[in-house]
Amino acid sequence: MTTAIGVEAVGIGKHFGSFHALSDVSLKVRPGSVHGLLGENGAGKSTLVKCLLGYYRTDEGQFIVDGREASIERPADADALGLGMVYQHFTLVPSMTVAENLVMSRQNVPNIVNWRSEIAGLKRFMETMPFKVPLEVQVGSLAAGERQKTEIVKQLYLQRRFLVLDEPTSVLTPPEATEMLGLVRDLAHSGALTIVIITHKLKEVAAFVDEVTVLRRGRMAGSGSVRDLGPADLTAMMIGEPHAPKNPERQGIPSAEARLVVSGLRTAPDAGRKGLSIGSIEVHAREIVGIAGVSGNGQKDLVEVLGGQRPAESGSVTVDGAPYRASRTESLAHDVRVLPEEPLRNGCVPSMTVVDNLNLRGFDVGPGKSHRSWLDRAGMAARARNMIAAYGIRTPSPSAPIGVLSGGNVQRCVLARELDGDVRLLIVANPCFGLDVKAVAETRTRIMAARNAGTAVLLISEDLDEILELADRIVVMHEGQVVHEMPAKGADPQEIGRHMLGQH
Ligand SMILES: Nc1ncnc2c1ncn2[C@@H]1O[C@H](COP(=O)(O)OP(=O)(O)OP(=O)(O)O)[C@@H](O)[C@H]1O
Ligand SMILES: [Mg+2]
Repeated sequence: MTTAIGVEAVGIGKHFGSFHALSDVSLKVRPGSVHGLLGENGAGKSTLVKCLLGYYRTDEGQFIVDGREASIERPADADALGLGMVYQHFTLVPSMTVAENLVMSRQNVPNIVNWRSEIAGLKRFMETMPFKVPLEVQVGSLAAGERQKTEIVKQLYLQRRFLVLDEPTSVLTPPEATEMLGLVRDLAHSGALTIVIITHKLKEVAAFVDEVTVLRRGRMAGSGSVRDLGPADLTAMMIGEPHAPKNPERQGIPSAEARLVVSGLRTAPDAGRKGLSIGSIEVHAREIVGIAGVSGNGQKDLVEVLGGQRPAESGSVTVDGAPYRASRTESLAHDVRVLPEEPLRNGCVPSMTVVDNLNLRGFDVGPGKSHRSWLDRAGMAARARNMIAAYGIRTPSPSAPIGVLSGGNVQRCVLARELDGDVRLLIVANPCFGLDVKAVAETRTRIMAARNAGTAVLLISEDLDEILELADRIVVMHEGQVVHEMPAKGADPQEIGRHMLGQH
């Protein structure tokens, strides 16, 4: 087992052109501790750790690793110092086994791998691990929690002694997240590894983190021990005001009018996953139907079918009683909006500007939904400016490519675009993914306001608390099927959890 090392950052500055992403930022991470790096969307958290890991070069300041001044100019430098990072998206190769992934991730893989001795070595290594992952199983068939554990095992196998986790639990279910964070904390406290964790979830901070550093608009906003800081203190440091999120108010009851009707919907099985086989889902006007389920149980396929990215084998989807295939004309005619998963990949063009991405939906639409063949540049810029202000989007400039925005700011852009104007049917997948506490509250309030105004909302979310807060009715999906349906009022989370696992 390796031993944990400490890291200090002193007076770090980083700018992109004239935009200062970090100014005079310092932090001190004790060896063997779990350190939380917190701050609102665009505060500079990912930028700071990318500087430490050698993905960006700092413009000012110094890193001190294990007591020594370190010059980190490229990822290999960080690697040599024992610094590693686990990304939000997975970096393992799905078609290879865990063992193959581990061996191939080494810097010094021989040209001809002696698998027998490698596997024997890996088995010995695995004996020393506090938790197990199956070596001979294909990564693609592992659940998200197992994959995340494999990512951590890989870092230990690469003898990393300091590990950054950037929003590691966003893809995990609550029990998986609790298990993973517990394992990581135990590793740190046993002195094997030092952990920096970036998260927006204050419950995770309270339960698993020792000390925090809070950034705000690229500067230090505070730091301290979690023992001395409650959620209100942390929120105040992050957004500059103590913020007590209120539950959004539900007004009026769902109407009798079914706006979205899905029936007998089937899709082909794909890459080891079962296809969809949905008897029926209805969403009424002024109603939020929440789809609960462990990720990977067909929710993604459903959103893809409803968004027109995946064909159905059979079955029907109707909106306002008319067949609906999600063409651009149909979605415009019925005012249907879709917020997909991974919006940067599925809902944006990363190389296009923030202005253009904010206008993707309406750039060729004139007054009264008429078709327009010329681009109203001034109108697009003005609309974008309004959305940037209303959704608090932090961007170096409206003409920056959307791909350089922080994770939470990309999410805000897509929300701004999809929630803008009249919406009759709103389909949202994990709307608050990567958002900071204040933006989460604002987004939930906006979704509820749309519902109160008569929008039919299909909310697909891995966050059961979110579903319980927003939904009028809950539908549980398991292995591509609807296995249970209940009113949200008085719903028992334990019972929902059992249905999510396919138990009755
Ligand atoms: N390559 C880049 N070019 C220009 N600006 C950038 C680049 N990378 C980051 N930025 C800007 O730096 C700021 C900080 O971004 P960063 O990704 O560090 O935020 P974050 O704290 O991780 O936010 P989030 O919680 O949303 O993930 C953002 O305003 C972002 O637009
Ligand atoms: Mg980030």
